[in-house]
Amino acid sequence: MWSTGPVSGVDDVDGAAIVARGLKKRFGSVLALDGVDLEVPRGTVLGLLGPNGAGKTTAVKILTTLLLPDEGEARVAGFDVVRQQEELRAAIGLAGQYAAVDEHLTGRENIDLVGRLYHLPRDEIRRRTGELLERFDLVGAADRPVKTYSGGMRRRLDLGASLVGRPQVLFLDEPTTGLDIRSRLDLWEVIRQLVAEGTTLLLTTQYLEEADVLADRIAVIDRGKVIAEGTADELKSHVGGEVVEVAVRDRSRVREAAAAVVEVAAGAATQTQIDEAEGRVAVTVRGDASVVVDVVRRLDREGIELADLSVHKPTLDDVFLALTGRVAEPTAGQAA
Ligand SMILES: Nc1ncnc2c1ncn2[C@@H]1O[C@H](COP(=O)(O)OP(=O)(O)OP(=O)(O)O)[C@@H](O)[C@H]1O
Ligand SMILES: [Mg+2]
Repeated sequence: MWSTGPVSGVDDVDGAAIVARGLKKRFGSVLALDGVDLEVPRGTVLGLLGPNGAGKTTAVKILTTLLLPDEGEARVAGFDVVRQQEELRAAIGLAGQYAAVDEHLTGRENIDLVGRLYHLPRDEIRRRTGELLERFDLVGAADRPVKTYSGGMRRRLDLGASLVGRPQVLFLDEPTTGLDIRSRLDLWEVIRQLVAEGTTLLLTTQYLEEADVLADRIAVIDRGKVIAEGTADELKSHVGGEVVEVAVRDRSRVREAAAAVVEVAAGAATQTQIDEAEGRVAVTVRGDASVVVDVVRRLDREGIELADLSVHKPTLDDVFLALTGRVAEPTAGQAA
C-alpha cells in the first residue's frame, strides 16, 4: 500500500491565516469534533456559529494549541498546531469563553502579566498596556482589582490582554455571551476596529446577528460538523425572507391557526414550526411580511384569538431549523 497523501492538505492553501482539515476530537463517548474543515483568509473574519455543545470551544482550543486533535491537521499563521506550538502561540491572541483574568490583580496588572508571558520588553509592555486600557475604556478602572469590574469590563479587559502581543490571528470564543445589549454593542465596535486594522479573526457565537454584523463568512457548526458555510445573506436565503410568529390564546386551536397562516401565505411559506405546548406557530415566508395583515384578518374571521404576533428576520434558530430540520438545542452529554 502506498499513499500520495491528502489531495488538499493544510500546506496547499495559500494566503490562509487558519486552515483546518478533518479535525476530530473525542471526549469519552462524545464526539466533540467529527471532521471539521475550516479556511480563513488573512485579514478576514470567520464567524463559527452554533448552539451549546456544537464543538465551537473544542475547535478554538485545538487551533490555539490548548488541546491536541485526535485526527486531522491544522495550521494557524503558517504554524502547525501539533508540531509548532510555541511559534504558533507567539503569533495569536485568545480571549476564551470565560474571561481569563485574575480577580485579585488590577486591570493594568492583568495586561502587564500577559505582556510578560509574551516576553515583551518592559517599556513596550508599559506603553502597550497604556494604549490598550485607553482603547478599551478602562483607564478610570485600571488600578482597581478586577473583582470590582462588571461583566462587560472583564470582557473588555480580557480582549485587551489578548492583544498585547499584537497577534496576527485572534480567537474570540463567545466574546459577548452574557453581556447586556449596551456592552455587546460597545464590544462589537471595538472588534470592528480591530478587523479594520487587518487582524484575522475567528469568532465563535451562538447569535446569527453577531456573526452577521462582524463576520465576512460564517461556518455553521452542529454536533461537531460544519453543516453550512457562506455569508450571512447566503445562510439567511436558505431560510427565506421573514418569520411570522403567532401565539394563540386557545392552545387547542394552534394547528388550525398554523393551517390558516400557511394558507394565507400561499406559495410564500417555506417552513412551518408548531409548538403545541406554547400555542405558537412560526411560519417562514419568502419576500416581505405584508402577509401579516391578511393573517390577522383571517384568524379574526375564524374566531381564533391572538395572544401575540410578531415578525422577525430569521434567527440562528430558524437557520438551524432550515438546515437540520430540528431546533437548535444543546447536544452536551449526548453520545455521538
Ligand atoms: N473536557 C471535556 N470532557 C468531556 N466532554 C467535553 C469536554 N469538552 C467538551 N466536551 C463535550 O464536547 C461537546 C462540544 O463541547 P464544546 O465546549 O466544544 O461546545 P461549544 O460549541 O463550545 O458549546 P457552548 O456554546 O456551550 O460553549 C459537548 O458535548 C461537550 O459536553
Ligand atoms: Mg464553548
